[in-house]
Amino acid sequence: MALERTFSIIKPDATRRNLTGAINATIEKAGLRIVAQKRILLTRAQAETFYAVHSERPFFGELVDFMISEPIVVQVLEGENAVAKYREVMGATNPANAAEGTIRKEFALSVGENSAHGSDSLDNAKIEIAQFFAGNEIVG
Ligand code: PPS
Repeated sequence: MALERTFSIIKPDATRRNLTGAINATIEKAGLRIVAQKRILLTRAQAETFYAVHSERPFFGELVDFMISEPIVVQVLEGENAVAKYREVMGATNPANAAEGTIRKEFALSVGENSAHGSDSLDNAKIEIAQFFAGNEIVG
């Protein structure tokens, strides 16, 4: 088992509905530690860079518009196998397919407005964390 860090976003549909604390409780109950956190409003350029890998997909414009529509909470989560663990805690991208007890099953509204983002690999976690946090802002 490796101690890892992953990058998380509490998305606009969740901040709008005042669900940051409830989602953080789910994260902490799962044994992940929130070692950095800030509430920000993404610029369009930041959102386009963050989701550049999806730029050719039909929902790209909708995804960017959504992610800049309200504040988000960006976080670094630490724990054993944090990357895979947080993907499990979030549940499937589409809440209709998400398992009971997962963040997306409990809180997500749709495949787009799905409340949470988590890095899909350790390499991407490092890249995504560096986009939002300086080293001295992460306190493990
Ligand atoms: S995944 O987790 O990467 O396998 O999921 P994927 O289906 O590839 O989706 C990637 C991100 O795009 C978002 N998404 C959408 N947004 C708006 N509309 C539609 N139809 C849609 N489908 C997928 C999805 O929430 C993923 O966002 P992140 O932030 O990466 O979880």
